[in-house]
Amino acid sequence: MKSGIFITFEGIDGSGKTTQITALIQHLDEAGIPYQLFREPGGTGIGEKVRDILLDKNNDSMLSMTELLLYSASRYQLTKSQIIPALESGKVVICDRFYDSSTAYQGYGRGIDLDFIMRLNAAATDSLVPDKTFILDISLEERHLRLDNKNLDRLEQEALDFHKRVHDGFLKMAAIEPERFIVLEGNRNPEELSNEIWETVKTLKELINK
Ligand code: TMP
Repeated sequence: MKSGIFITFEGIDGSGKTTQITALIQHLDEAGIPYQLFREPGGTGIGEKVRDILLDKNNDSMLSMTELLLYSASRYQLTKSQIIPALESGKVVICDRFYDSSTAYQGYGRGIDLDFIMRLNAAATDSLVPDKTFILDISLEERHLRLDNKNLDRLEQEALDFHKRVHDGFLKMAAIEPERFIVLEGNRNPEELSNEIWETVKTLKELINK
């Protein structure tokens, strides 16, 4: 039985997830709350190898379905071997991306059937659903500025219209499940954003501990 809380962060590349995750961890450390942090794809020995395959620019012949199945394989390994046990031990689990990224990137971005992705996501997670998902939302213009000069990986170097579909996909997903998603304007002051995220996580934790 799950007794911890499960928080995920989503958004297009360059949206500021890393900064906000680092700040949340600092808050948890200061409050003495046990947590575990994972990232997707990756987070396990097998998952990190799958990540290398997925992000390798040389793998330009990868088919969309291969891509989706590899993300799902990494997710299943991480969920079963790490996330579920950490939640069962009562920890706060933070994941840098989870199945919503497959819906946004492989579904809205690549055009794979959304119902199929939903079923695959459930299979790859044992039907685990995050308690709260923060979407950091930045414009495509801001993304361009933030990623400028960076050595882009296979997904990041995709065409602008792909990233537009992913960006719009995240917002559509948030509108469909407003009780789980919190969309935050990623251009806001980082400290203000991290305080808002912390207040939400603290409230969730208090509710669960009641
Ligand atoms: P990261 O750069 O945030 O670590 O994520 C790696 C890349 O993989 C990023 O471009 C988003 C992409 N991605 C998908 O396309 N589908 C997925 O299911 C996940 C988890 C990530």
